[in-house]
Amino acid sequence: MLHPARAKPGPGRRPGRKAALVRRGHWAANRGMDALDPTPDRGGPAQPLLAVKGLVKHFPLKGGLLGRTQAVVRAVDDVEFDVIKGETLGIVGESGCGKSTTARLLMRLLEPNAGTMIFDGEAVGENVQAGGLTLREYRRQVQMVFQDSYASLNPRLPIEETIAFAPRIHGLSGDESVTRARELLAAVGLAPESFARRYPHELSGGQRQRINIARALALRPKLVILDEPVSALDKSVEAQVLNLLVDLKAEFNLTYVFISHDLNVVQYISDRVLVMYLGEVAEMGPVGAIYDRPAHPYTRALLDSRPSMDPALRRTKPPLTGDPPNPVNPPSGCRFRTRCGHAEEVCAARKPLMADLGGGHIVSCHMATPESGHSQAGSLAA
Ligand SMILES: Nc1ncnc2c1ncn2[C@@H]1O[C@H](COP(=O)(O)OP(=O)(O)O)[C@@H](O)[C@H]1O
Ligand code: SF4
Ligand SMILES: [Mg+2]
Repeated sequence: MLHPARAKPGPGRRPGRKAALVRRGHWAANRGMDALDPTPDRGGPAQPLLAVKGLVKHFPLKGGLLGRTQAVVRAVDDVEFDVIKGETLGIVGESGCGKSTTARLLMRLLEPNAGTMIFDGEAVGENVQAGGLTLREYRRQVQMVFQDSYASLNPRLPIEETIAFAPRIHGLSGDESVTRARELLAAVGLAPESFARRYPHELSGGQRQRINIARALALRPKLVILDEPVSALDKSVEAQVLNLLVDLKAEFNLTYVFISHDLNVVQYISDRVLVMYLGEVAEMGPVGAIYDRPAHPYTRALLDSRPSMDPALRRTKPPLTGDPPNPVNPPSGCRFRTRCGHAEEVCAARKPLMADLGGGHIVSCHMATPESGHSQAGSLAA
């Protein structure tokens, strides 16, 4: 309950704002360690932790003497998905398909051109009076881990201070922040007594990525966005860091969005998988459905591209050839049509609708929609 002295609006304070924050769990009534405890679950398990609708990001390409916009890169175009509480949602696709842009949009490091994001029932980027979540409150609950473990760390700070920095900014005392940093170092498998005062250059790539993970957890977030977090690591270290992520998710009650171009890694860690192609969602569903019964020709081709250990199953012809088209000028209709073996006239004429294959499995292909006009319309089944 709110302390009466705190409930009373002070000079220069907006009346009721802090009370509203406390009531809704954005701000602990008492400062200190409580101030950074995880925000309570508001909507219950049925409410998505994050609901993304119509997300668009176009980057202008400027040129000429006057620096006018010459073209736009359609990096993310009308992307829509939910992140369910407690799950790991994998996002997979070839390089350049818009995964990192999506991650930065989710983190609100980039401002979208269009679209809405609802975090546990509250509109992100709105102020509290308008029934929303300010970016500051949102960013405390959502954290990110990047691929480049070295670039993400301050080379001049001992790692303990790097981890303690955000808690201190958010109101913990110096001692409390350091205690939290040391607890997190232990949680990510680095003994604080040997690692706390080391600098990033004194660590291996795997150790630095553990530090980045510890730092991401320092504000007790609910959602962690991991953009290719193990792609730069050796295979043996990759497995250790993946297992650590699985353990930390259970220990800290986290939800992950896990982005990778590596199909095996995504299969290992994800509950559900979203397949992206040229800035759009091609297919999404439970990991078993996507890997055992892929519906979209692109997903099938991606899975068929995986090298096989069985000589009898080895392919002589790659299932997916050429690079994805330029996102400055993507193909009309279905963006995959220039590489799809099933492409027909309708695929160039109209963008496919998102078809529901049941069990949460959805796909954007004319072959999945009975009246689409494709000669194999309705033939795709999960
Ligand atoms: N700041 C930017 N300015 C212009 N184009 C960009 C920018 N960031 C990303 N892009 C382009 O957007 C597309 C998607 O990039 P990205 O999201 O990094 O893909 P991925 O992470 O899947 O490899 C690419 O064509 C990339 O070149
Ligand atoms: S809509 Fe047409 S081009 Fe696109 S994946 Fe389906 S069949 Fe291929
Ligand atoms: Mg990327």
